[in-house]
Amino acid sequence: MRLIKICALIFAMMSSVYALENNSLISIDDISKAEIEQILNAAQFFKTTPQPDLLKGHILASCFFEPSTRTRLSFESAMYRLGGNVIGFTDGDTTSTKKGESLSDMMKGIGSFADVIVMRHPMVGSAHLAASVAGVPVVNGGDGFNQHPTQTLVDLFSIRESQGTLDDLHIAIAGDLKYGRTVHSLCLALSHYRVHLHFISPNFLLLPDVICEELRKSDTSISFHESLEEVIPEIDILYMTRIQKERFVYESVDFENPCLLKLSHLAKAKDNLRILHPLPRMDEIEVNIDNTPYAYYFQQMGNGVPVRMAVLALLLNKIEANNFSF
Ligand code: CP
Repeated sequence: MRLIKICALIFAMMSSVYALENNSLISIDDISKAEIEQILNAAQFFKTTPQPDLLKGHILASCFFEPSTRTRLSFESAMYRLGGNVIGFTDGDTTSTKKGESLSDMMKGIGSFADVIVMRHPMVGSAHLAASVAGVPVVNGGDGFNQHPTQTLVDLFSIRESQGTLDDLHIAIAGDLKYGRTVHSLCLALSHYRVHLHFISPNFLLLPDVICEELRKSDTSISFHESLEEVIPEIDILYMTRIQKERFVYESVDFENPCLLKLSHLAKAKDNLRILHPLPRMDEIEVNIDNTPYAYYFQQMGNGVPVRMAVLALLLNKIEANNFSF
């Protein structure tokens, strides 16, 4: 009996060890559905419960080689709100990259200055490279058109907050499905849930085959549509995205975007419809929608702080994810 109790205790301790401890968050595939939910639950805790000393004495290196408003400032706010400090840069050209230093050498060095690194870089795979040399946890704040896993955690948190669930939802994802890294991460995360995904995009900015293949493998129900009007009456979430013209390689910038949301499109929307957008917005959501109950993108932006507080606290082993329930 005593042996069974000891075994049960060891199992309980092992199962409370979070998979990201001393590790990095590079792709949303790095974490399981259970781990995603633990992060969302921890974020819910941080949203209502200040913890001003939790990361006292810890340093975040905030390394942004590409422009950012939300990701950088919400990570830095999260670190300060937990009592930690921040070093970093917002332009790679102010670092020794300008003199020809490799990303690998740079991240090896920064790993000795900080306890955790968040990095945004235009090169696909850059965050993975950084994590392989830094010696401290690295969080991918966006690597080219590839992934943006913490934005996805913010998106999932906002869907759950606005709908009360992540299951049995019709979710439309509209805009630049090819170069939108937030779209790629979000699709992979939603494949864990019972959802139907409706995709709308210009025909040369379709969802990459590799993401479609993952959705098919997980039996996620998907459909492709020509216009927003076609799907609005049946959806619970409309996830709008910006056309990422800066990533175009051979595409023409002159085209008709079928993903421009107007107030008149919402006449047939369900009452519970909520519109999300990772932001920044260009012209894809009319500003007169901002004051309707459907608009949720600014609440979503605010959720960046508690979600990133949860990610930082978990990566630095300051909380046990299993202590939080929803
Ligand atoms: N959502 C997002 O990544 O925004 P920023 O580019 O401003 O960080």
